[in-house]
Amino acid sequence: MPISESQFAALKQGAVDASRHAWCPYSKFAVGAALLATDGQIFAGCNVENASHGLTICAERNAVGQAISAGCRDFTTLLIFTATDKPTAPCGACRQVVTEFAPDIEVISVCDGPENIQVSMRDLLPRSFGPHNLDDAPKPDQTSALDN
Ligand code: THU
Repeated sequence: MPISESQFAALKQGAVDASRHAWCPYSKFAVGAALLATDGQIFAGCNVENASHGLTICAERNAVGQAISAGCRDFTTLLIFTATDKPTAPCGACRQVVTEFAPDIEVISVCDGPENIQVSMRDLLPRSFGPHNLDDAPKPDQTSALDN
Protein backbone atom coordinates (compact mmCIF):
# COMPACT_ATOMS: atom_id res chain seq x y z
CA MET A 1 0.00 0.00 0.00
CA PRO A 2 1.45 3.40 -0.90
CA ILE A 3 2.31 5.65 2.02
CA SER A 4 0.53 8.95 2.59
CA GLU A 5 2.08 12.30 1.74
CA SER A 6 2.53 13.11 5.42
CA GLN A 7 4.24 9.75 6.08
CA PHE A 8 6.53 10.39 3.10
CA ALA A 9 7.36 13.86 4.40
CA ALA A 10 8.11 12.53 7.89
CA LEU A 11 10.27 9.72 6.54
CA LYS A 12 12.20 12.09 4.31
CA GLN A 13 12.72 14.52 7.18
CA GLY A 14 14.00 11.67 9.36
CA ALA A 15 16.46 10.57 6.69
CA VAL A 16 17.63 14.11 5.92
CA ASP A 17 18.15 14.88 9.62
CA ALA A 18 20.08 11.63 10.15
CA SER A 19 22.28 12.30 7.11
CA ARG A 20 23.39 15.55 8.74
CA HIS A 21 24.90 13.44 11.54
CA ALA A 22 26.74 11.08 9.19
CA TRP A 23 30.32 10.33 10.16
CA CYS A 24 31.90 10.13 6.73
CA PRO A 25 35.27 11.90 6.80
CA TYR A 26 36.78 9.35 4.37
CA SER A 27 34.19 9.13 1.60
CA LYS A 28 32.47 12.49 2.25
CA PHE A 29 29.33 10.63 1.15
CA ALA A 30 26.63 11.28 3.75
CA VAL A 31 23.64 8.93 3.79
CA GLY A 32 20.48 9.03 5.87
CA ALA A 33 17.96 6.20 6.04
CA ALA A 34 14.55 6.07 7.69
CA LEU A 35 12.35 3.04 8.27
CA LEU A 36 8.59 3.33 8.60
CA ALA A 37 7.19 0.71 10.96
CA THR A 38 3.71 -0.75 10.52
CA ASP A 39 2.67 0.98 13.76
CA GLY A 40 3.74 4.37 12.32
CA GLN A 41 6.99 4.78 14.21
CA ILE A 42 10.02 6.03 12.28
CA PHE A 43 13.59 4.90 12.93
CA ALA A 44 16.49 6.69 11.29
CA GLY A 45 20.20 6.09 10.91
CA CYS A 46 23.25 7.56 9.20
CA ASN A 47 26.43 5.98 7.91
CA VAL A 48 29.24 5.69 10.44
CA GLU A 49 32.68 5.30 8.90
CA ASN A 50 35.87 4.17 10.59
CA ALA A 51 39.57 4.73 10.04
CA SER A 52 39.64 0.97 9.57
CA HIS A 53 37.49 1.40 6.48
CA GLY A 54 35.98 -2.07 6.38
CA LEU A 55 34.25 -1.43 9.69
CA THR A 56 32.01 1.25 8.20
CA ILE A 57 28.31 0.72 8.84
CA CYS A 58 25.79 1.99 6.31
CA ALA A 59 22.88 4.25 7.19
CA GLU A 60 20.28 1.56 6.41
CA ARG A 61 21.84 -0.97 8.78
CA ASN A 62 22.04 1.62 11.54
CA ALA A 63 18.34 2.40 11.04
CA VAL A 64 17.58 -1.32 11.36
CA GLY A 65 19.64 -1.44 14.56
CA GLN A 66 17.69 1.49 16.01
CA ALA A 67 14.36 -0.18 15.25
CA ILE A 68 15.28 -3.62 16.51
CA SER A 69 16.78 -2.15 19.69
CA ALA A 70 13.46 -0.39 20.32
CA GLY A 71 11.58 -3.68 19.93
CA CYS A 72 10.15 -2.93 16.49
CA ARG A 73 10.46 -5.53 13.71
CA ASP A 74 7.69 -4.84 11.20
CA PHE A 75 8.29 -2.30 8.47
CA THR A 76 6.52 -1.08 5.36
CA THR A 77 8.91 1.45 3.84
CA LEU A 78 12.60 2.31 3.77
CA LEU A 79 13.60 5.76 2.54
CA ILE A 80 17.19 6.64 1.69
CA PHE A 81 18.40 10.21 1.30
CA THR A 82 21.66 11.39 -0.21
CA ALA A 83 22.50 15.02 -0.94
CA THR A 84 23.38 14.12 -4.52
CA ASP A 85 22.00 14.83 -8.00
CA LYS A 86 20.90 11.22 -8.49
CA PRO A 87 19.21 8.88 -5.98
CA THR A 88 21.22 6.10 -4.29
CA ALA A 89 20.02 2.50 -4.09
CA PRO A 90 20.95 0.49 -0.98
CA CYS A 91 24.13 -1.59 -1.14
CA GLY A 92 23.96 -5.37 -1.25
CA ALA A 93 24.80 -5.86 2.43
CA CYS A 94 21.96 -3.55 3.46
CA ARG A 95 19.52 -5.30 1.13
CA GLN A 96 20.33 -8.55 2.89
CA VAL A 97 20.02 -7.10 6.42
CA VAL A 98 16.72 -5.35 5.68
CA THR A 99 15.36 -8.50 4.00
CA GLU A 100 15.82 -10.44 7.25
CA PHE A 101 12.92 -8.44 8.72
CA ALA A 102 11.07 -7.03 5.73
CA PRO A 103 11.48 -8.97 2.47
CA ASP A 104 8.51 -7.11 0.92
CA ILE A 105 9.45 -3.61 2.05
CA GLU A 106 9.11 -0.73 -0.41
CA VAL A 107 12.38 1.15 -0.92
CA ILE A 108 12.35 4.82 -1.89
CA SER A 109 15.55 6.72 -2.68
CA VAL A 110 15.45 10.50 -2.81
CA CYS A 111 18.11 13.11 -3.36
CA ASP A 112 18.56 16.80 -4.12
CA GLY A 113 17.70 16.23 -7.78
CA PRO A 114 14.21 15.65 -9.18
CA GLU A 115 14.67 11.90 -9.70
CA ASN A 116 13.41 9.27 -7.21
CA ILE A 117 13.76 5.50 -7.14
CA GLN A 118 10.83 3.50 -5.82
CA VAL A 119 11.18 -0.26 -5.92
CA SER A 120 10.22 -3.35 -3.95
CA MET A 121 12.96 -5.15 -2.02
CA ARG A 122 11.86 -8.31 -3.87
CA ASP A 123 13.09 -6.65 -7.07
CA LEU A 124 16.30 -5.35 -5.46
CA LEU A 125 17.19 -8.73 -3.96
CA PRO A 126 15.45 -11.54 -5.81
CA ARG A 127 15.74 -15.16 -4.63
CA SER A 128 17.36 -13.98 -1.41
CA PHE A 129 18.94 -16.07 1.28
CA GLY A 130 16.85 -15.93 4.43
CA PRO A 131 15.87 -17.67 7.66
CA HIS A 132 13.97 -20.28 5.62
CA ASN A 133 17.25 -21.56 4.18
CA LEU A 134 18.42 -22.55 7.66
CA ASP A 135 15.54 -25.02 7.85
CA ASP A 136 17.62 -27.12 5.48
CA ALA A 137 20.63 -27.20 7.82
CA PRO A 138 21.80 -30.69 8.78
CA LYS A 139 20.10 -32.17 11.86
CA PRO A 140 22.39 -33.27 14.76
CA ASP A 141 22.48 -36.86 13.49
CA GLN A 142 23.39 -35.75 9.95
CA THR A 143 26.45 -33.66 10.75
CA SER A 144 29.16 -36.12 9.71
CA ALA A 145 30.30 -33.76 6.97
CA LEU A 146 31.07 -31.18 9.68
CA ASP A 147 33.12 -33.54 11.91
CA ASN A 148 36.56 -32.81 10.46
N1 THU B 1 26.65 3.85 2.25
C1 THU B 1 25.48 3.78 2.94
O1 THU B 1 25.36 4.34 4.04
N2 THU B 1 24.46 3.07 2.40
C2 THU B 1 24.51 2.43 1.21
O2 THU B 1 23.58 1.72 0.85
C3 THU B 1 25.67 2.60 0.34
C4 THU B 1 26.87 3.20 0.98
C5 THU B 1 27.77 4.60 2.83
C6 THU B 1 28.91 3.74 3.29
C7 THU B 1 30.06 4.72 3.21
O3 THU B 1 30.13 5.45 4.42
C8 THU B 1 29.68 5.66 2.10
O4 THU B 1 28.31 5.49 1.88
C9 THU B 1 30.44 5.44 0.80
O5 THU B 1 30.37 4.11 0.42
